[in-house]
Amino acid sequence: MEAAETIQSIRSLIKAARDSGKNIGLVPTMGALHVGHISLIEAARKKCDYVVVSIFVNPTQFVPGEDFEKYPRPLEDDLDICQKAGVDAVFAPAQGEMYPVENVTWVNVEKLTESLCGQFRPGHFQGVTTVCSKLFNIVAPDIAFFGQKDAQQAIVIRRMAADLNMSLSIVVCPTIRESNGLAVSSRNMYLSEEQKKDAANIYKSLQKCHRMIDTGVKDASEIIDEMRNILLKVPSIEIEYISIVDADTLQSIDHITGKVLIAVAVRIGRARLIDNILLDSTK
Ligand code: PAF
Repeated sequence: MEAAETIQSIRSLIKAARDSGKNIGLVPTMGALHVGHISLIEAARKKCDYVVVSIFVNPTQFVPGEDFEKYPRPLEDDLDICQKAGVDAVFAPAQGEMYPVENVTWVNVEKLTESLCGQFRPGHFQGVTTVCSKLFNIVAPDIAFFGQKDAQQAIVIRRMAADLNMSLSIVVCPTIRESNGLAVSSRNMYLSEEQKKDAANIYKSLQKCHRMIDTGVKDASEIIDEMRNILLKVPSIEIEYISIVDADTLQSIDHITGKVLIAVAVRIGRARLIDNILLDSTK
């Protein structure tokens, strides 16, 4: 496995791979790698000859007051995980390599970024789409891999790639969960064992929603009330939002119809946790 810190060095590794006829897969990450990231790497290895993992804690997607400084940066462990997972190259640039001067050019996806997390993290998605555009320009992957846990991010990036005619496809891989249902996330390391048990109720509320929709409940507010009741029983959970939205437009819906995304964001202690399920109510 090669490790590159500069844009020039990752570009020359990728050029060599391309010249030998390989297609390129990119798994963009902020490091603190876990089984969720490993599943993205495995998906990339199945579809691509040359797999690049980027590790960059992107300052522009953190809103003031968020955990940018405290965000875990276990680079040696991450490199080890990548090596064992069969990654071909890691791109781990310093901040000054990605943003050498004040950034004045932004990629902004409208509408899809207004609801859900966008309401609570103003500017977050602009940071994500800008850094992903930069990474796509640097690595020029054929396919980039994202996790369904960050459902809104995946939808926003797919739309950005389509609207800007980017020459890559976006693959979204299923959420990986702990045995108690908690979605795996780098931010789970902020949780105590007790808080992890409490956090399992997020998925319980989503499963309840799934069952209600399966049994024909159509009223979104009835479902949200049931989910809220499950979460309110856990004193450590502070609900940020529980939303049922159209899976394409991300606009709230009152009546369950077609493909719907049910998304939850909560705070437990110093962790902000998100989770979701995607359902096709016609099936
Ligand atoms: O999902 C993440 O880890 C980040 O938002 C991403 C896509 C790597 C951009 O910094």
